[in-house]
Amino acid sequence: MSMLSRYFRPALLREIAARAGTPVYVYSGDSFLKQIRTYKKAFRGLDPLFCYAMKANSSGALCALAAAEGWGADVVSGGELYRALRAGFAPGKIIFSGVGKTAGELEYALKSDILFVNAESREEVLALERAAARLKVRARLSLRVNPDVDPHTHKFISTGLLGSKFGVSFDEALRLYVYAAGSPHLEPVGAHFHIGSQVFSARPYALAAGRLAAFILKLASRGVSLRYADAGGGWGAKEGGEMPDPAPLAAALAGVFQGTGLRLILEPGRSVAAPAGLLLARVLYRKKSGKKNFVVADAAMNDLVRPALYGARHPVALIGPARGPAAPRDIVGPVCESGDFLAQDALLPEPAPGQLVAVYSAGAYGFSMSSQYNSRPRAAEALITGPSSWRLIRRRETYEDLVAAEIL
Ligand code: LLP
Repeated sequence: MSMLSRYFRPALLREIAARAGTPVYVYSGDSFLKQIRTYKKAFRGLDPLFCYAMKANSSGALCALAAAEGWGADVVSGGELYRALRAGFAPGKIIFSGVGKTAGELEYALKSDILFVNAESREEVLALERAAARLKVRARLSLRVNPDVDPHTHKFISTGLLGSKFGVSFDEALRLYVYAAGSPHLEPVGAHFHIGSQVFSARPYALAAGRLAAFILKLASRGVSLRYADAGGGWGAKEGGEMPDPAPLAAALAGVFQGTGLRLILEPGRSVAAPAGLLLARVLYRKKSGKKNFVVADAAMNDLVRPALYGARHPVALIGPARGPAAPRDIVGPVCESGDFLAQDALLPEPAPGQLVAVYSAGAYGFSMSSQYNSRPRAAEALITGPSSWRLIRRRETYEDLVAAEIL
C-alpha cells in the first residue's frame, strides 16, 4: 500500500473529503502521467500512436493531461468523441471503435475528420460508406479482426476469441478490404485487434500481432496496402499495484511490426488510469450479522461496480488512526442489494464512525461505470496537482441533476 499512498497522502485525502465531501474519486496527476511516460519510454524505438481508451476514465481533466503528452484517444461512442474533442485531443489522433456505431455517430466521426473508424461488421462498413457518401467524403477505415487468441482473463473482458461479438474473421476482413478499396467513399488505412482486458502476458499479443501482420502482407499482395496496425489495449494493472513494465509488450510488438513500415497504434486504458485513482468514502455505521463484520460506508455499487460485477478485489485502507486488532470486514454501501459491496473479508482494524476509507485502484472503470442507481447523485471527482494541492474536476451531482432530463 505504501507505493500507492505515496501519491495519496492521508492529510490531503482528509482535506479533500472535508472540502469536497464523500464519496469522492481522487486522482493523482503524477501517477497518471507516470504511467503515460512509462509507456512512451518502453515503446520509444517504435514511435507508436497511443490512443488513450477513454472508456476507462473520460474525465476531461485527466484526458487533457493525456492530450498534452501527445496522446490521441480511442473512443467508443459519440459521447466519448464529444468529450475527446472537448478535452483537446487532436482529431487526427482519434480513432472510433465499438461494435454498434449508429449512422449519427458515424457522421459525427466523419465531420470531425478523425484518424479512422474501426469497423466490426460488413453491415457497419456499408453504413460507413453510406454516411461518407451523404457527406461527400472518403471515410478512412480500419477493420477490427478477431485473431482467435485467448488472453486468459475474466470472461466478461475477453474479446479476441471466435464466438465473441467482436470483430470479423480474417476471411471476411479480406473480402471487406477488397470491397472498400474499390469504393469511392472508403479508404482502407488500418487493421485492428483487441484481445481483452487485464492481460499480463505479452504472448497473446505476439500471437495476435503475428496473425495480423501476415494478414496485412496478404492484403498487400491483393493490392490493398495499409498504414496502421492497431494492437488494442488490455495491458493489465493488478488491483493494488501500478502497471507492470510494458517493455515485454513493446518487445513482442517490435518483433512483429518493426521494419514493416506500418505505424503501430495502442489503446491503453486501465493500465494508465487504474493506479492513478481511488474512491474515498466515509464510514457511516458498523454492524454485525452472524459472524460477519459489516462496515456501512457512504459509497456503494453505483459508485464503483467492479467488485459486484467482476468480483474485483480492490485493496481498502482506513485513513487515520487504527483502533484494535485487524479482523475480516465487509465494506458495503447503502444500496438495497446483497451484491452491494466494495470489499469482502478485508483485514482491517475497527473503523470509527465518520472515519475515511479509501478503495484503491479505482481510477479506471470506476467513475466511468458509475450510475445513479437508487437515485444516488454521482460522486465528485478531485485531482491532486502537487504535494499539497488539489482541485475539484467534477462537482458532486445534486438532486436536481437526478431529474434534470425528466419530462413530467
Ligand atoms: N480498446 C478497445 C477496443 C477496448 O474494447 C478496450 C476495453 C480498450 C481498448 C481498453 O482496454 P484496457 O487497456 O482498459 O484494458 N469494465 C471492465 C473493462 C472492460 C474493457 C473493455 N474494453 C473492467 O472494469 O474491468
